[in-house]
Formats: sequence, structure tokens, C-alpha cells
Amino acid sequence: MTPMDVIVSLCKRRGFVFQSSEIYGGTGSCWDYGPLGVELKNNIKRVWWRDFVQQRGDMVGLDASILMHATVWKASGHVDNFTDPMVDCRECKHRFRADQVAEMAWMHYCEATKGNKFTIPAGEACRHCGARRTLCPECGKGQLTAPRQFNLMFKTFMGPVEEDASVTYLRPETAQGIFVNFDNVLQSTRRKLPFGIGQIGKAFRNEITPGNFIFRTREFEQMEIEFFVNPHETIDGRPADEHWHDRWIAECQAWFTRYGLQPDHVKLHEHAGDELAHYSKRTVDLLYHFPMGWSELMGIANRTDYDLKQHAKFSGKSLTWFDEERKEHLVPFVIEPSAGVDRALLAFLLDAYREEEVRGEKRVVLRFHSELAPVKIAVLPLLKKRPEIVATGQDLRARLARRWVAIYDDTAAIGRLYRRQDEVGTPYCVTVDVKTVGDPDKGEVGDQRVTIRERDSMQQIRVPIAELEKVFASLLEGGGWAEVAAAYPRAES
Ligand code: GAP
Repeated sequence: MTPMDVIVSLCKRRGFVFQSSEIYGGTGSCWDYGPLGVELKNNIKRVWWRDFVQQRGDMVGLDASILMHATVWKASGHVDNFTDPMVDCRECKHRFRADQVAEMAWMHYCEATKGNKFTIPAGEACRHCGARRTLCPECGKGQLTAPRQFNLMFKTFMGPVEEDASVTYLRPETAQGIFVNFDNVLQSTRRKLPFGIGQIGKAFRNEITPGNFIFRTREFEQMEIEFFVNPHETIDGRPADEHWHDRWIAECQAWFTRYGLQPDHVKLHEHAGDELAHYSKRTVDLLYHFPMGWSELMGIANRTDYDLKQHAKFSGKSLTWFDEERKEHLVPFVIEPSAGVDRALLAFLLDAYREEEVRGEKRVVLRFHSELAPVKIAVLPLLKKRPEIVATGQDLRARLARRWVAIYDDTAAIGRLYRRQDEVGTPYCVTVDVKTVGDPDKGEVGDQRVTIRERDSMQQIRVPIAELEKVFASLLEGGGWAEVAAAYPRAES
């Protein structure tokens, strides 16, 4: 498993992720996506949207606002239930989630060793004096307060007056924007059950203990689906909601492995009764083997008719669907696959990362699925002193960039340029050399061919410039490398 600090350092060095407000010391709970990070993130969202919204006949999309009517959060239960129990250290003022204190390593000043300071693993006793943790795990000195419920929603004011009547919240999940638009979508699209609404957008939670890089942050993005089903219907002898729940679990798991997660790095976790959210009949999490252990990548919940009924109750509007067959109005059940964009990005990065040895040297490579790779093609000149090579390379980049993210780089020798592209996961490099453009001083004409190098195998083929777009269309939108490479002569590496 790739250590987290290796990924954090690569992300900063190569422009995937920076700490937010770093020049002011950073926030520790928010992160900024750099030039490569924003491409990677957009690719994840684009592929998710295409696969789960655009390509399915039973899905539509939505983009609801972040700020909503305050009653939404009363109806959804977030005002009353979206809380974590927290404790504070009376000495260092550090704040912890009460349920996580026992799982933390703790600081201890041991009297049996003249007050020496030790960090003791979670749950263990001091091997010198046998003491167990009773004080703050961070400073080892302060008493902890009794647990208090802390609401995780960020409060703000709508409009110019800061008074109770104008209080609202930054949404802690995108889901509620879908529920409150259920009837709008139904009326405007004339959908029949089952159908779903997908949405991608920012969510905000004032997490007590953000951490593990972009795993738990206070501002993050979600990709959520609310899939509405007829609870009176049975499919293969089972209630429709249970059938669709299992289908969505399988489809989400397959989606993550299709785009690069190793199957043995993903597993399912069935929520026990006491773990279930207040709205859920059944929830299954997709866990990923993150460096800090198996942790939630996404959740797939059966939210029943809870949310639509709550919003109908609080708004006084009917949120039902008319079942023509049974001639009755019913409140659909909802299956909710809910994924975090940032966690997905972290998992894809971790699984793509490889350190390999090539001709006695270490090569770092991100083996991204080509659809996720931030840059698809890097055009590299073999000699930047030759103006024809540079001009040809820049012209090629401009042509390829009309269809794919393509960059031009001539800031180092070719070996170094390849390594740099490997390190950020660029699947293909195109090299322009002397043979491409010829040498007028020696009376040599160019062959108008360039070398394409594939990232994972490092194989190279020689391809006519005139066929480049056709070749990349096959490589990036169709067949694999082996098939395309077989049609062209190999170039020496
Ligand atoms: N609408 C259901 C819902 O929001 P959740 O399990 O609280 O369920 C869904 O969140 C997903 O959103 C999580 O599986 C995770 O991927 C992501 N997520 C939640 N809180 C997050 C945080 N503080 N930082 C980053 N991602 C988070």
C-alpha cells in the first residue's frame, strides 16, 4: 500500500493538490486542486456523469443551489440529528470526536520514569507504570469535558441582516437538493418509476477531526444519485427497493474497479442496526484500503420514503407519483448511491502509484486509466535547439489539443521528460526528432513521422504525422495499445 505521505508530497510537487491558503499557514481542513488535480477531478466527475446519468435511460441530472431554505434542514433531520459527540481538552483546548478518543495514540507523562514523555499506542497501557489514558490524548495534561453534541452544519445568514430569521446553512449533502426538486423533475420530464436524479456538487461539514489529506475535509464534493422506485412493486420475488439496492451496490463497485481500483482494495461493509442513519432501512458502504486502514469510499443507502414524506410534511406540498396501473398516488422509496469526489480521487491516485526499476533506475509512474489521466498526450522535442523540431512539436500539440488535453514540454532532456510524464500518469508521449523534420544542411528531407511512447509498457512506435489523430482516437476512445501498435513499426527506445 502506498504511504499517504508519498502521495501528499507528489501531489504538491507536481501540482495535483495544495494546502488551502498555504501562504498563511494553511487551514488543515481544506485543499486546493492544482493544474493537474483539477483535470483529474474533472475527469472523474465527467466519467461518472456520463456513465451514471447520460448513458442510462433511467436517469436525469440536476444542479441545485448550495444555499437552500432553512426549513429543508429541519425537515431532513440535519438540524436535530446531524451531530457528532465531541469532547474538549480543558488545558490545550483541542477538540475530539468522543467516539474516536479511544482509537488515538496518547501522550503520557510517566511518573515511574521521573515524568518522561511517551506516546502510547491507542488502547494500550504505559509499560512503565501501567497507567491507562484518562487525560487529553494530545497534550497528556488536560481533563476532557463530558461529551456534547456538536452540529456539523456551517451556519450562515441569507441577506444583509444577521438575525435568527435569516439563518441558513451550507448544504452538508447534495441529496436534499434532489428531494426538494422531485416534483419539478417529475412534472418537467414525465418520468415513470423507477428513475433517478444525479447531481455533483460541493458539500460542507464542520468536521471535528478533519484529516488524512483529502479524505476528510470541511469542504468537499459529492456525486450523488437518488433513485426512486415503486415500493409496491416486486422484482424476482423481492421488493423493488431491495432489488435496486443490490443492483446499485454491484454497479458502483464495478465502476470503481473499471477505472483503476484493484478489486482486492475494495470491499463492502453492511451497516449494523446501531450504525444506520435515522432515515435508512439498509446501508452498505464501499470501503477502500486507504493507508490508514479500510475506510468509507462511498455509501449506498435505502432511504425509504423518509425524505419525500418529511419534505411533504414540512412544505405542505404533495410529493407523490401516480401509479397508473394501481390507480394510486404513492411516495417512492429511494436508493441513494453517494460518493465523495475527493475520496475517489485519493483512491485512484493511491492505486495508480507504482515505483518500478527500469535499467537500474527508479521510475515513478501513475498508471491511471486513460480516461482519468489529467494529460492524455505530451509532445516532446528531442532537440530544442532545432527550430523546425520545436515548430513541428508546437503545431502538433495545438492540433491534438483540439480533441484531447495535450501539452508541449521542452524543458529537459528526453529521458527526464518521459519520467516527468510517467510521474503524472500521461498515457502517451509524442516525440519529434531530426528524422521527423530532416536536415536541410545535409540535404536530408524529413520522414514526417513521430514516435509514440506508451506509459506502462514504455514501447515505442513510429507513426506518420498525418495519422496521429486517427491513432489517438483509437488509443483514447477505442482499442488498446497492443492492437494499435501492431499496425506500426517499433521505434528504438
Ligand atoms: N447523502 C448521503 C451522504 O451524504 P455520507 O456517507 O455522509 O452520506 C457520502 O457521505 C460520501 O461523501 C462519503 O462516502 C464520502 O465519500 C463523502 N464525504 C462525506 N464526508 C466527507 C468529508 N468530510 N470529506 C470528504 N468526503 C466526505
